[in-house]
Amino acid sequence: MMHKAGILGVGKAVPKRVVTNADLEEMVDTSSTWIIDRTGIQERRIAANDEATSDIATRAARIALVKAGVNPIDIDLIIVATVTPDMVFPATACLVQANLGATKAAAFDLSAGCSGFIYALDMAARVVQSGAYQRVLVIGADLLSRVTDWTDRSTCVLFGDGAGACVVGRVNSGGILATYLGADGNGGNKLMLPAGGSRNPTSEITFQKKMHYIHMAGNEVFRFAVKIMGEAAHEVLVRANLQPSDIDLFIPHQANIRIIDAAARRLALPSEKVFINVHKYGNTSAASIPIAIAEAVDEGRIQPGKPVVLVGFGAGLTWGAIALEWSADEGKIA
Ligand code: ACO
Repeated sequence: MMHKAGILGVGKAVPKRVVTNADLEEMVDTSSTWIIDRTGIQERRIAANDEATSDIATRAARIALVKAGVNPIDIDLIIVATVTPDMVFPATACLVQANLGATKAAAFDLSAGCSGFIYALDMAARVVQSGAYQRVLVIGADLLSRVTDWTDRSTCVLFGDGAGACVVGRVNSGGILATYLGADGNGGNKLMLPAGGSRNPTSEITFQKKMHYIHMAGNEVFRFAVKIMGEAAHEVLVRANLQPSDIDLFIPHQANIRIIDAAARRLALPSEKVFINVHKYGNTSAASIPIAIAEAVDEGRIQPGKPVVLVGFGAGLTWGAIALEWSADEGKIA
């Protein structure tokens, strides 16, 4: 028997420390005007030295669990979408499982760059729909600041740290309507962290060549993003049997305001239907969409019964889109 799956509760957590464009002007040859014109970013949050991805992920998860009215002990599965785990192993999801005391949950990490949360939400919805699991904790969490070259102006102005979490479970109405995931591994070299894996184990040479930092062909990623955001959104709308004009709120990955504006234009969406917080947080990778969902719910911009479309792109290259209807069941177990 197939069940309906939806988001029962959502939470976000960001580090306290705010780094403004003016702060970056002190560090690299850039200007706040350039950053705002080219990206829309005004400030970002950067984790404290003693904070790791699992700490911020756990904070977001605790809020999502309270909102959902679910006890950690009742979670069946934890998926953490991240490219900046605390360590290569154990999985950050296992560290979060221990922090929460979610002793009955299986736990693993998922690597799909900034699309990671969309990938994880798709997987969670499918296991809930199939009846295999009842309650899945999905977290998008990244501290890109830890893999950013703070002397490289072409990347360091773009990123920020944070986490967002959702509890996914059975709902009576609405929920996840359709999903669409894709990947193009041929574009993998456009956005990567080359060292520290089996291809280039960390060594003095990888360190000197700065291979432990994000390497990105910004312009090519930009063109890919503009194209794929519109295409992925259209594809998920077709799968959900919806028109662009049916979208009540569009929540795109928050990488760059120009990429968001281009996608919104392609869908002919008025600005009040597009959620934007890139000015506050920069690109928080897998955390960006769940942070945006949490803020949209808090601001009353997501209403039961109204279609919401999420769309992301990222390293891999990967992309994904999800159409959902916010369920009136938030905080209630169906
Ligand atoms: N301050 C001032 N000047 C800068 C800066 C900076 N911070 N960064 C680059 N420039 C300069 C460049 O050196 C270049 O100068 P030149 O023409 O003399 O060579 C000039 O600005 C223009 O550079 P472009 O790369 O053409 O600028 P563009 O308009 O493409 O914007 C940007 C660059 C913002 C990086 C854009 O390409 C972009 O957003 N790309 C997508 C990035 C992205 O979303 N990545 C995340 C993917 S998700 C994930 O998985 C992490």
